[in-house]
Amino acid sequence: MAPTIEIKESTVLVILGASGDLAKKKLFPGLYGLERKCLLPEDFQVVGFAPDQISHEEFVNIIRSPVKLESPRFAEQLKQFCNRCSYVSGHEGGDKSFEALKKKLDEIGHGKKEQHRLFYMALPPSVFVPMSEQLKKHCYSEKGQTRLIIEKPFGHDLESSRELQRSLDPNWREDEIFRVDHYLGKEVVNNLLVLRFGNEIFGSIWNQRNIDNIQVSILEGKGAEGRGSYFNSTGVIRDVMQNHMIQILALLTMERPKSLSADDLCDQKVRVLDWIQPIKVEDTIIGQYAKSGDGEKPAFKDEEDVPDDSRCATFCAAIAHIDNERWNGVPFFLKAGKALNESKTEIIIQLKHSANANIFKDMVPNKLTIRVQPNEGVFLTVNTSVPSLTTSIEPMDLDLTYRDREIPEAYEALLLDALRGDYSRSVRGDELDASWKIFTPLLHHLDENEEEKPREYRYGSTGPEGLDEFVTSYQNRSKM
Ligand code: NDP
Ligand code: BG6
Repeated sequence: MAPTIEIKESTVLVILGASGDLAKKKLFPGLYGLERKCLLPEDFQVVGFAPDQISHEEFVNIIRSPVKLESPRFAEQLKQFCNRCSYVSGHEGGDKSFEALKKKLDEIGHGKKEQHRLFYMALPPSVFVPMSEQLKKHCYSEKGQTRLIIEKPFGHDLESSRELQRSLDPNWREDEIFRVDHYLGKEVVNNLLVLRFGNEIFGSIWNQRNIDNIQVSILEGKGAEGRGSYFNSTGVIRDVMQNHMIQILALLTMERPKSLSADDLCDQKVRVLDWIQPIKVEDTIIGQYAKSGDGEKPAFKDEEDVPDDSRCATFCAAIAHIDNERWNGVPFFLKAGKALNESKTEIIIQLKHSANANIFKDMVPNKLTIRVQPNEGVFLTVNTSVPSLTTSIEPMDLDLTYRDREIPEAYEALLLDALRGDYSRSVRGDELDASWKIFTPLLHHLDENEEEKPREYRYGSTGPEGLDEFVTSYQNRSKM
């Protein structure tokens, strides 16, 4: 692994949008997790910034509320963490708010030789650019590093993503922007590189000669509950496929990087993404969930602020192709959806049937299953003899479950990276470009053509009808 970088002394993390959902559910719990693991330097400080005029106690309650204390001894660590946190209200708006924030940061840095400032933009995307301009104008550190941490969505298509980048360019260098895709913080996603490049057994079969097809699924059992308006303007392709799924795909298919440095890793990710053809509408199945069979669970159109004529995709199955030497002819089945029969993120590497005449009957092709969540693990399906007096064969799983191992939260891992300045799991600007190129023509086609109506599927089902036939037809094509 790359050498561990320490968080610099005198680092302050400012969370802009500290009263919002992301801050409450992910960022404060992630930071508290780092406190519990004793990974924060003694003088590390957190400043919350949001329009609300709230007291320090009210702010501390926001931080405390999602934390589950498994043991009384953690109460002391939580208190210690809250002591690092302070709040600045941005209620006055404009320059005045940012002057107040600067004043707070200067107070914290008073008498110190250095101060490193990180700004986490847990804000609506519409205010990213104006807020980042204010930060540059008022709060840029004069005696240390300054970094901006931003979350998806990075635009809504190729052009708007480039536009966002152009707007940030005059004020922020690429090495001052840390782009978070929380899937890159998930342990099993992180393990993909080790699995591939740390084990010769997998490295040697990782190509079109041995692999029949690859399936990547991000399935969710819940609908867009409470986020109808956001989801209606986003849809599942922009919400999870262009970002989380593409990151998984890049790590699965890229060539071996020269080193684990951020640039070497991103270079290889971009290189393989550039080989992926833009996804064609005829290579997709687009769906939208209707009420559950028993009528208990709502249709997407029943969600608040979703119009009755919404054509938003809450499900998408797509076939991608990578036209390079390693992957030519291997179909990649990508599937993501809400309100399905299960919640599961999984990668299946389906190996080919052995071409050699085999001395055994009933052999199944080997299959490697990488379960990202829940019940993280890696399973290799192999043929084994049934313990009996016959020569029967059955498929069994070699099982590498993470069962007894403590798995860090994705946000803990990425916050730590950002605080350390380790960019190996940050999304580089050109990765965004490459990933938007894959989906933008499809998205424009779906947005612009009224006649493109998603197929309905029941809440709690496996997705729209026709899915199995769709997948089988590509599996057959790949064998021709
Ligand atoms: P919320 O709407 O819950 O919170 C937004 C925060 O920004 C609130 O604190 C809000 O304050 C504040 N805010 C809004 N407008 C301004 C403004 N003009 N000036 C200063 N502060 C402002 O959003 P989320 O927390 O859900 O999301 C934040 C960002 O993170 C978004 O870009 C989202 O797409 C992204 N994201 C969120 C995820 C999640 O799990 N929630 C997951 C992945 C990405 P107030 O409430 O007072 O308006
Ligand atoms: C977020 C999406 O980026 O990822 C959500 O906006 C989705 O709609 C979530 O539910 C899935 O993340 P996880 O970690 O729950 O698999």
